[in-house]
Amino acid sequence: MANPLLMREVERLRPGSALDLGCAGGGDAVWLARRGWRVSSVEQRDLPEKFPDGEFDLISARFLHSHPDRSRASCRILKRATEAVAAGGYLVIIGHAETPSWSEHLDCDFPTTKNVLDSLKLMDNWIIITNEVVRREVTGPKGLVETCADNVLTLKRLL
Ligand SMILES: C[S@@+](CC[C@H](N)C(=O)[O-])C[C@H]1O[C@@H](n2cnc3c(N)ncnc32)[C@H](O)[C@@H]1O
Repeated sequence: MANPLLMREVERLRPGSALDLGCAGGGDAVWLARRGWRVSSVEQRDLPEKFPDGEFDLISARFLHSHPDRSRASCRILKRATEAVAAGGYLVIIGHAETPSWSEHLDCDFPTTKNVLDSLKLMDNWIIITNEVVRREVTGPKGLVETCADNVLTLKRLL
């Protein structure tokens, strides 16, 4: 199943070529393909070293920052992703802002959207479409319901 925030960000876009970074089970990629996107998706690959060739109208990076060990690599992946977005294309970055109390990553210091923007060092041919923290309900062990938050950053390359 696709991520609701990714769906929300992409629904308004005209389909073209798309790249899903860290595709896992492929839920996002399948949803994009059903909406008419020509999707490339990669998993089990050292993305900072071997980034897919080509340019894309949409690149999605969802929860790449989900472990602190991967945070530095993720910054390099996202920077590389900005170079692979075609003129007029979009980069959608969805990351954890906080985790529920039962998460093993409770003490993680997740990057904020400002941290991500600072690390990308974008030129003025980019505009920010979405920059927000979105809260959602999650159900954990024994049916415990809590809220946690995700960072959503959608960037558009103008030229
Ligand atoms: C939450 S999943 C993405 C979900 C996916 N888009 C879907 O539709 O189900 C994030 C994925 O990013 C991958 N990932 C994180 N860092 C990576 C790296 N440095 N190189 C390759 N994959 C990475 C993880 O293995 C994980 O499968």
